Amino acid sequence: MALFRMISVRRSARIILLVGFLLVLYAIAARSISPDPYFERGGLGLFAHPRPDILKYVNPLIGTVNGGHVFPGATLPYGMAKAVADTQSPAENAAGYVSDDNAVLGFSNLHDSGTGGAASLGNFALFAHPGCPDNDYSQCKYRVSSRPVSRVVDSVVAHPGYFSIELENNVRAEMTAAMHSTIYRFSFLTERNQGGAAGQGEASASTQQNGHMPLILLDLQDLAGSLSKGSVQVFPETGRIIGNGTYMPSFGQGNYDAHVCVDFQGATIANSGTFLGNNASSVVTFADDIPQRAKNPSGSAGGWVHLERPVNDQVLVRVGLSFISTERACHNAEHEIPDFAFERVLADAERIWTEKLSVIEVETAGLSDDMLTTFWSGLYRSFISPQNYTGENPLWQSSEPYFDSFYCIWDSFRAQHPLLTIIDPHAQAEMVRSLIDIYRHTGFLPDCRMSFSKGFTQGGSNADVVVVDAWIKNITEGIDWDTAYAAVLADAEKPPHVWTLEGRGSHESWEKYHYVAYDHIDHHGGGSSARSVSRTLEYAYDDYCIAVLAEGLGFHEDAEEFLSRSGYWRNVWNPEQEDVKESADGSGVEPATDFVGFPQPRSTDGKFMFQPPRTCSPTEEMHRCYFDTTLATYEGSPWLYSFYAPQDMAGLIDVFGGADVFTQRLDYFHSSGIAYMGNEPTYLTVFQFHYAGRPGKSSEWVHNYIPSQFNASINGIPGNDDCAMGAFSSMAMMGFFPVAGQDVYLLTAPFFPEVRLQSRSGVPAVIRKTGDADGIYIQGARLNGKAYSKSWIGHDFFLRGGRLELVMGTEESDTWGRRDEDLPPSHPPEPSM
Ligand SMILES: *[C@@H]1O[C@H](CO)[C@@H](O)[C@H](O)[C@H]1NC(C)=O
Ligand SMILES: *[C@@H]1O[C@H](CO)[C@@H](O)[C@H](O)[C@H]1NC(C)=O
Ligand SMILES: *[C@@H]1O[C@H](CO)[C@@H](O)[C@H](O)[C@H]1NC(C)=O
Ligand SMILES: *[C@@H]1O[C@H](CO)[C@@H](O)[C@H](O)[C@H]1NC(C)=O
Ligand SMILES: *[C@@H]1O[C@H](CO)[C@@H](O)[C@H](O)[C@H]1NC(C)=O
Repeated sequence: MALFRMISVRRSARIILLVGFLLVLYAIAARSISPDPYFERGGLGLFAHPRPDILKYVNPLIGTVNGGHVFPGATLPYGMAKAVADTQSPAENAAGYVSDDNAVLGFSNLHDSGTGGAASLGNFALFAHPGCPDNDYSQCKYRVSSRPVSRVVDSVVAHPGYFSIELENNVRAEMTAAMHSTIYRFSFLTERNQGGAAGQGEASASTQQNGHMPLILLDLQDLAGSLSKGSVQVFPETGRIIGNGTYMPSFGQGNYDAHVCVDFQGATIANSGTFLGNNASSVVTFADDIPQRAKNPSGSAGGWVHLERPVNDQVLVRVGLSFISTERACHNAEHEIPDFAFERVLADAERIWTEKLSVIEVETAGLSDDMLTTFWSGLYRSFISPQNYTGENPLWQSSEPYFDSFYCIWDSFRAQHPLLTIIDPHAQAEMVRSLIDIYRHTGFLPDCRMSFSKGFTQGGSNADVVVVDAWIKNITEGIDWDTAYAAVLADAEKPPHVWTLEGRGSHESWEKYHYVAYDHIDHHGGGSSARSVSRTLEYAYDDYCIAVLAEGLGFHEDAEEFLSRSGYWRNVWNPEQEDVKESADGSGVEPATDFVGFPQPRSTDGKFMFQPPRTCSPTEEMHRCYFDTTLATYEGSPWLYSFYAPQDMAGLIDVFGGADVFTQRLDYFHSSGIAYMGNEPTYLTVFQFHYAGRPGKSSEWVHNYIPSQFNASINGIPGNDDCAMGAFSSMAMMGFFPVAGQDVYLLTAPFFPEVRLQSRSGVPAVIRKTGDADGIYIQGARLNGKAYSKSWIGHDFFLRGGRLELVMGTEESDTWGRRDEDLPPSHPPEPSM
């Protein structure tokens, strides 16, 4: 139902046109697809129907409350330009807009999506006043702390490539985006056709009084208030405003510069100038160190134009963006939006988004609109970041692509990059090349990177996994594997000065003790010795991945060495640690369950220290192990980390005491409230029952979490999106989930009768359910017509295409995926340590 509110009538007409257009495309495409007897039988369907208009199932507002921090504005896939209304929502407006009732600060043009913590980017806010008191520009409000205006309730319309909102000052702002530029259509409404809004009469009265001479300003201050210096120049004849500023990244070190170029169309320029704080003048250039904070506490500064009343009460504003120069910002706008044609830019965005999403087709019988919206919106969000800043990198000259907003790879390596590897391999190849080029120029692969700055590392050096995942999945296009190998070796072998910024810390400890000891003083590089358990577990997996690449490139000795290090996860396993919880009176701990054995911090002399196994879970001090933690696990409990040895799950299950105990514990983890689906490390645990021969249990949990935690409501994701939440839900809904860094996808019951993915060979990869349509337990499978008893498939299926049929039933199967030879692979180090 929420869906209909998002779609305007005007849009429905476009949808009909679009459907017609797709039908034609479809007819052409259908003929060029190689004949497949299966489809010729006509049993399947999708080729027999028009492709549904998938954009109507994308609701960009999902995840714009409760910490989702999703960017719901206008952008293209991987687009640099991202326009949205920024709201005055403390701690929540990381991506600009929040679906709450706070006032609107402006409309800014660069954003990140789904990040934790502080506002990220949010540069070059526009703000439109319908008029100034007495038509006097100096009486308008300029600074960000004075100008906010409430929004009209329920006035937001968001769909791919488009965002609009109405404010209580009778201004409607619509926006759409090209790659490096945006265009706005501001409408100055005389009367509003929505009822009941408080203050409506007053607002219209003041508009009339002001004679509709709108004033539009450009503020150089960013959303986080990090502007340190900036300059602006206004050209009075045309109203063009160019400007730039120096800003700080939201979760990293250093600063970055950004540039803007704003042009107007639709009204005569009456007057123009610059402002500092609330003081506006008709002086047209301004260059300053903004932080004369005492004078200008908000840091707001920029340019403005005062316009004669526009003919049709609408003004178009075009914004060019660049990280190189103001000239380039102007060039980007002139090149991408020479025609000032809002509708054309929007139609292009819709076409590009439709093409991007059309690599997947689903049969929808039996699925509610909400389920389809959950699926397509999640998929859509997987394309918002990393951002393609190719050609916009001021830091170094290179012919390689440059992507930014890897924010953070610790989150995205687990689901988003593996998803892109399947559905957008060309983009994934460019991203990997970009990672390698960042290594070339900075000495390390990033773990987190935003706004041309080094971000803070989290757990491991997980870009290693992204690089190796690409290697094993035939993402080879243009990748220099020798340098890729040098890059992962740098992570493994080269001590960084500060490991919280790049690379890995505690090399000495890793080499000497074969784990990160919590009390080890690192002589090679600075940084705290916190996160010793999670780093040990992550480094071990990263080393497993490096072993795979080493072997693939023919470095057999290296491969053996790294494989042996991949077994170090065992060294932080304390077999005697009992499961205890905080006692009710807070005086200490008390027994919780009979489960024994957890990863625990360990000292240089081999002794274990105690960290309560539930600390950093939703049940106990959830946030004690976030960024500035001194604890041994990062953003998760020892309970969570006890399941992390994806390279050797058979070995891990042994350590737990066998498949039954492992299954009980994993089930308990998910049912006790300890598991937190709002953070990415929990994803894989949903599927790890597979390794204990119980794929049916994985399927149960997938079908529990979707839709209970991933759904079509505005609050429909459980944590910061990181462009990863949707990658989890969309793959899980299609019936598989990757073990990132391995040629393994774990199979669970799809939500759709049939899913078809475009493959690089041209033959689609088809996953089809048969049997009991209500069943969520796979009873048996056929791959390309042959019986298939493994609970997992390899990437070849997605690469070459094929047909996987899954027979469903309402009870867990006694046979399918349960035998040892059908389990997903484990890779214990040889000889065993
Ligand atoms: C901003 O633009 C001005 C004028 O073109 C220029 O002098 C200044 O160096 C630029 N600042 C930055 C940070 O690029
Ligand atoms: C604005 O002008 C007033 C009066 O001249 C002055 O006191 C104040 O410092 C100015 N503010 C800024 C930010 O320049
Ligand atoms: C990234 O941007 C560059 C330059 O505009 C373009 O050539 C390339 O195709 C883009 N890559 C993707 C994956 O969109
Ligand atoms: C994918 O890569 C693997 C390993 O490099 C290779 O054996 C296989 O032939 C490749 N497949 C295709 C379709 O290129
Ligand atoms: C939708 O997901 C959110 C976030 O995980 C959850 O809080 C909410 O209860 C879910 N809603 C429904 C109807 O399941």
